[in-house]
Amino acid sequence: MRAYVLKHYGGPDSAELMDVPAPQPGPRDVLVAVRAAGLNPVDFKFRNGMLRAIKRPKLPLVLGNELAGEVTAVGREVTRFRVGERVFARTGKDRSGAFAEQACVDEDDAAAMPGNMDFTTAAAVPLAALTALQALRDELDVKPGQRVFISGGAGGVGTFAIQIAKWLGAHVTTTASKRGEALVRSLGADEVIDYTTGDISSVDGKFDAGFDLIGGRTLEQMFEIMRPGTKVVSIAALPEPQTAAKDLGGSLMLSVAFWIISYGIRSRARRAGVNYRFLFMHPSGRELAELAALIEQGKLKAILDKTFPFANIAQALAYVESGHAKGKIVVTMR
Ligand SMILES: NC(=O)c1ccc[n+]([C@@H]2O[C@H](COP(=O)([O-])OP(=O)(O)OC[C@H]3O[C@@H](n4cnc5c(N)ncnc54)[C@H](OP(=O)(O)O)[C@@H]3O)[C@@H](O)[C@H]2O)c1
Repeated sequence: MRAYVLKHYGGPDSAELMDVPAPQPGPRDVLVAVRAAGLNPVDFKFRNGMLRAIKRPKLPLVLGNELAGEVTAVGREVTRFRVGERVFARTGKDRSGAFAEQACVDEDDAAAMPGNMDFTTAAAVPLAALTALQALRDELDVKPGQRVFISGGAGGVGTFAIQIAKWLGAHVTTTASKRGEALVRSLGADEVIDYTTGDISSVDGKFDAGFDLIGGRTLEQMFEIMRPGTKVVSIAALPEPQTAAKDLGGSLMLSVAFWIISYGIRSRARRAGVNYRFLFMHPSGRELAELAALIEQGKLKAILDKTFPFANIAQALAYVESGHAKGKIVVTMR
């Protein structure tokens, strides 16, 4: 089968489309004929070797973390899926492989595709929408009427985050450039700050929850606009000890390392009276099924910026790496 394979860590030339043997499903796996795969910043970050401190799989490996397709075989312990079903998934945490004509997914990480979606649109959902759901509902516990601040509303995660925060009943303020403003407003953002000209700290009032997709100075400014005792969840800044304990299997060594590297950002948060948490999202077929139900009810949609044929996956990844995607980028297999 054709697959986009990482040969060694590095720039765009370190990955290549090539023929490799098809994967064999384990007892709990479904084998999926991939029809479309979503791209995410984690794909180029992993390719660059930026995640080597926490993930060191053996190379070469097939890249790609989310897909939509048709089940073509099931392992002997699989109970939830049958051959011929349309599924979508964020592949396992330590298991990429979505940028290929066939991929294996643990049945616990997959869900039936929403009936009202095609493969291309469905492939855009799993990683970004799960991240937004896990941050806003599971970590921040957003409640109706609360004021939520989301930095970076126009990208892959942000476009889902705005919709999910609105579904949870929140009042949403987000940041976007002029290029993204109409989009974030169309998704329900109540207030938009142009991050290229405006200053977050000039925003009126204080917030009950913060979801940071940008990191750096943006995150620091977010601490200052939160009500004391509230929480900011970032997915783009520095991991902290809870990240190791809750998201990465509880390694003491990682906990200590994250405690050290996040000392400065945690101190800033503490001075502002805010609780800082860095989240690594996790695959979940159960939560993905909840998202599928929201999509079927018309409460959630995926925003596609561009789609590319699989043969042009290097260009697709370069576009994601440019950092200007509005919504999601997807490659289609046929
Ligand atoms: N920890 C996790 O589990 C996890 C999960 C998913 C994603 N992430 C991370 O979260 C971040 C966001 O992911 P994504 O998929 O949403 O990225 P993305 O789709 O590449 O985001 C691109 C968007 O961000 C906007 N943007 C760029 N700089 C901005 C700024 N300073 N303020 C506001 N908006 C800005 C761009 O708007 P303009 O082009 O208009 O400037 C563009 O529309 C990435 O760093 C990603 O690696 C982490």
